Amino acid sequence: MATTADGKGSGPAAKLKEKGNEVWGNVQGSQAWGAIFRPGSVFRKGYTDSPRNRSYVIMNNVLYHLHPVKVKRHAVKVSYTLCLGGLSFFLFILLTVTGIFLMFFYRPTATDAWQTVQTLETGVAFGSLVRNMHRWGAHLMVLSVFLHMSRVFYHGAYKSPREFNWIIGVVLLLLTLLLSFTGYLLPWDQLALWAVTVGTNMMGYTPVFGNEVRFVLLGSKEIGNDTLLRWYVLHVLMLPFVIVIFMAVHFWRVRKDGGISGPL
Ligand code: HEM
Repeated sequence: MATTADGKGSGPAAKLKEKGNEVWGNVQGSQAWGAIFRPGSVFRKGYTDSPRNRSYVIMNNVLYHLHPVKVKRHAVKVSYTLCLGGLSFFLFILLTVTGIFLMFFYRPTATDAWQTVQTLETGVAFGSLVRNMHRWGAHLMVLSVFLHMSRVFYHGAYKSPREFNWIIGVVLLLLTLLLSFTGYLLPWDQLALWAVTVGTNMMGYTPVFGNEVRFVLLGSKEIGNDTLLRWYVLHVLMLPFVIVIFMAVHFWRVRKDGGISGPL
């Protein structure tokens, strides 16, 4: 490969890399990037080694103090947050516990799925109760996450310094909706089957990659055993794993952004 005097390449690959760096530099310099990834939005106090920053490391450490050293009076008022974020988290825990119970009886195959759900409803102690807690809990979680987002928006809590946490929140909303949709298929009844057929057909109209997107979602050319297995793994393992990580970052940011928003 051709090289210049400063040791950098001068071929097409080097030019492409240079262009890439230039575009990346423009993105980082843009206003939108500055608003979202302003360093103070992620690391509030910076890394300078000073006695004050050292004490902040202890006082603001979320692992030492999930609740901050000082709590603002308005932050403990239920009428301010309506506890909607906490309610969303509580519902997630409830869904995890009831979901584990359901996993003991449910088999994710096209021949067994519906039958195992029926057995759970009619032949397992508390089966019907736990299944309904799981189903209603899922609907309530979608509702409470949406209301929590509306509350945050109403109070303008998406503004600096909480813009990064708002974005984490948007990811949490998407993950909540995905969890809800993947769970919808699992009973393998007519409602589930046709809802997912309609949903994946809509994705099939994605420009350029439509067929590929549909194939990845279905795990096959049409809805069947592979789809059920794929959505089951997403529902019980992958999406919960990812949402837990994002929730941890979300709670950490609430603490690091100075607790709940409100009058200064
Ligand atoms: C799984 C979903 C979610 C959970 C479990 C959750 C949990 C929480 C909790 C416990 C709080 C503390 C205060 C409160 O209860 O209001 C909070 C605050 C916050 N959440 Fe969420 N949240 C979720 C989704 C979202 C969404 C969808 C958004 C926005 C798109 C969002 C943005 C925020 C922001 C900006 C704050 C700080 C609010 C303030 O300081 O007033 N969260 N969240």
